[in-house]
Amino acid sequence: QPFDLIIRNANVVTASDSFPCDIGVRDGRIATLALALELKSARHEIDAAGRTVTPGGIDSHVHLDQATGDGSIMADDFESGTRSAACGGSTTVIPFACQLKGQSLRAAVDDYQRRAYEKALIDFAIHLIITDPTEDVLYRELPELIAEGYTSFKIYMTYDALKLDDRQILETLSVARAEGAMVMLHAESSDCIAWLTERLLAAGHKAPRYHASSRPMLVEREATHRAIAMAELVDVPILIVHVSGREAMEQIRWAQSQGLKVYAETCPQYLFLTADSLGSDNSFDGAKCICSPPPRDAANQQVIWNGLENGLFEVFSSDHAPFRFDGPDGKKAHGEDVSFDKIANGIPGVETRMALLWSEGVRGGRITPQQFVALTSTNAAKIYGLYPRKGSIAIGADADLVIWDEGRAVHISNEMLHHNVDYTPYAGMQLSAWPAITLSRGEVVWDGEPRGAVGRGQFLPCDSPAPAQVRRRKTELPL
Ligand code: URP
Ligand code: ZN
Ligand code: ZN
Ligand code: ZN
Repeated sequence: QPFDLIIRNANVVTASDSFPCDIGVRDGRIATLALALELKSARHEIDAAGRTVTPGGIDSHVHLDQATGDGSIMADDFESGTRSAACGGSTTVIPFACQLKGQSLRAAVDDYQRRAYEKALIDFAIHLIITDPTEDVLYRELPELIAEGYTSFKIYMTYDALKLDDRQILETLSVARAEGAMVMLHAESSDCIAWLTERLLAAGHKAPRYHASSRPMLVEREATHRAIAMAELVDVPILIVHVSGREAMEQIRWAQSQGLKVYAETCPQYLFLTADSLGSDNSFDGAKCICSPPPRDAANQQVIWNGLENGLFEVFSSDHAPFRFDGPDGKKAHGEDVSFDKIANGIPGVETRMALLWSEGVRGGRITPQQFVALTSTNAAKIYGLYPRKGSIAIGADADLVIWDEGRAVHISNEMLHHNVDYTPYAGMQLSAWPAITLSRGEVVWDGEPRGAVGRGQFLPCDSPAPAQVRRRKTELPL
């Protein structure tokens, strides 16, 4: 029986190994890994001689077509967002279905499944965002949805429209524990931010750069500590998303050293941007880099690199939150004269994530190729219940692959990208790698041009993730 595709002479890298081989693909899956498939034939062949082949990226933190409620509109929907992801070497994305206060979780999921319907070019799973944890939501809807494959959800400790109070977080965590779901926490201290913002605005400090002053590291440190304490009390694993620097990392390191299952994610903006990216004067241009937590400084960039290298971080995702700079519905939705607290939070990055880390991390000598694969793909597959279908180059896994082009100068410009945002925070950076070919279930979706039909992407129901399972009770609580 012939293969549909053979990729010959690949230098395969997985999260644990590196080996030369040919990859035989049949029905969208990896059917054979062997040193010499030259006697076999295939309908299609790709010669990858001299090239590294990694698993396709899993971008486990992206916002697509998400309702914001403040007048701004996300620039990427499931079509442009997944196209951009594919062109940057990702073959799976996990966007969010965000519950509105007063809305049922089921209605939120149906809404986002409609937004995704016949649009995605690559496969996707969906995280929930829980903003209204009523009894019915927690004890009826959530267990049902988890059983249907929505096995991870995000909780916010800040943003008035999204945040839960500590009592609600404890109750929600206890349901995650009972049902074996992975909880992602946005850890920033809401009241500290509100108080600082009021003080800054009273002093006339309204330019975009004061966004960073309103969310200093201690605000993230305090919330991270509180999140860890609540997770310890309930005895449930958690994942702290978009960690920006040293202070939050110290809390996570401490928790991990106690044997607590506290996982952590970081993002490109904390490696390549600083608070100075939000502007050194009062110009509105800095709005392009407003995201939360804000990027810090050069010393913290190095600390983040250390955490990627030493295993503190499990996941490297983009937190792609796409808002246009110009136009009536993005960063300028309330005009250019508006105070920093009225500017939409978030930056684009789904397409640049993989190349930034391969170029500056692997080729820059900071992490190994295996660590790159773990951080951009394998660990996310395990943490969110997609492994081993996704996240590995193994027999039976989906043929989701990246064939790398290395050693050639790649100058980042927004024109080369395929998102629907009118800027990239990384414009002007010089990289030494970019995906040459991205394959999704054996189909070319990027080879210098975007390929693959709109709507070919499949919804991926997730298993209950093994890292979310509670093995033994550490504390004696009257639960
Ligand atoms: O500023 C950010 N990160 N916006 C996206 C939403 C979130 O909190 O992840
Ligand atoms: Zn064909
Ligand atoms: Zn967040
Ligand atoms: Zn986010």
